[in-house]
Amino acid sequence: MLNFSLCSFYILNLSFLCLPMPTILAIESSCDDTSAAICKDGKILANIISSQKVHEAWGGVVPELASRAHMKNIIVTVDMAMREAGISNDELDAIAFTRGPGLIGSLLVGVSFAKGLGMALDLPLIEVNHMQAHVMANFINYTPSYPHICLTVSGGHTQIIVVKGPLDMDLIGETLDDAAGEAFDKSAKLLGLPYPGGPMIDKFAQSGNPLRFKFSEPQIKGYDYSFSGLKTSILYFIQAQTRLNPDFVKENLNDLCASIQKTIIDILLKKLTLAIRENQINEIVLAGGVSANSELRMRFEELGKANNWKTHIPDFEYCTDNAAMIAIVGHYKYLNKDFCSYEVEPIAKYHL
Ligand code: KG4
Ligand code: ZN
Repeated sequence: MLNFSLCSFYILNLSFLCLPMPTILAIESSCDDTSAAICKDGKILANIISSQKVHEAWGGVVPELASRAHMKNIIVTVDMAMREAGISNDELDAIAFTRGPGLIGSLLVGVSFAKGLGMALDLPLIEVNHMQAHVMANFINYTPSYPHICLTVSGGHTQIIVVKGPLDMDLIGETLDDAAGEAFDKSAKLLGLPYPGGPMIDKFAQSGNPLRFKFSEPQIKGYDYSFSGLKTSILYFIQAQTRLNPDFVKENLNDLCASIQKTIIDILLKKLTLAIRENQINEIVLAGGVSANSELRMRFEELGKANNWKTHIPDFEYCTDNAAMIAIVGHYKYLNKDFCSYEVEPIAKYHL
């Protein structure tokens, strides 16, 4: 009996040693950033992001230009990631890629590249939902407790998600119209600031008074959000003030940015607080491009401290679009042997 249990003890330990610890190449091309990352044994070795400057002149992302720029950038971006990680082709175990949601032409470049390279190297493919990847960015260099709540705030989405484990998540609230990132970008456009406006509002808000101007907040039930009304109220306010003083925006830029930013963050954190209280969860994490916002990061931490909730925010490079977050999903999916067919196609509206 003793021998048997000793034997099974050793087998268990040996089987742990045999668990696959894969090396994954990940590709992200859902919008206007071409990114490639390498993840080995769950650790990110490289995360290269090539941003596309071509859209700035147009005040927003131009889909056709984005696809062309992805085609131009993808080989060099992947090559840089492989070199930085010190990984050769024959060390790769799988290729993970963003399947959606995103711009269909941009997604197509990443999906086709993953298929081509995968076929040449005879590797399995792992398809990744971009929104799930934003949530999983919190699993890079951090181990959250379960369940926790993730507030994902990006350029295209605003979501409140209950995370029950890696890859196991329930969407409980989302925006009914504009995303938080869009609210930043569209407000910035109304103020005459260049695209992307979120970081510009963040910058000017630092020297402004957030209590100077008041904008109305939406009255939406439950955990859902709405930001389109805010944009309209800012538009009407600026139009009215500019009729009285053509230099109104220029003279009040810092206070306008600080007040708009405060309103967006108030809306975001109110619903998050409601969700965490009603679900009796005591850990919150942030995700998505808007989580790079300095005021949101500060108020998120303060909210956690005031309520004794654990908080985590990913490093800056993992907040905005990046392939490291695709790679970490790829890692967990590889452990589940969750591979996809080579017939896989991109999906522009890929729900969580
Ligand atoms: O997650 P992301 O890189 O792309 C999407 O998946 O959409 O998010 C991009 C969004 C843009 O709307 C951008 O303005 C916003 O993130 N953003 C910010 C900041 N940095 C990026 N918004 C406010 N403050 C920032 N510092
Ligand atoms: Zn994103």
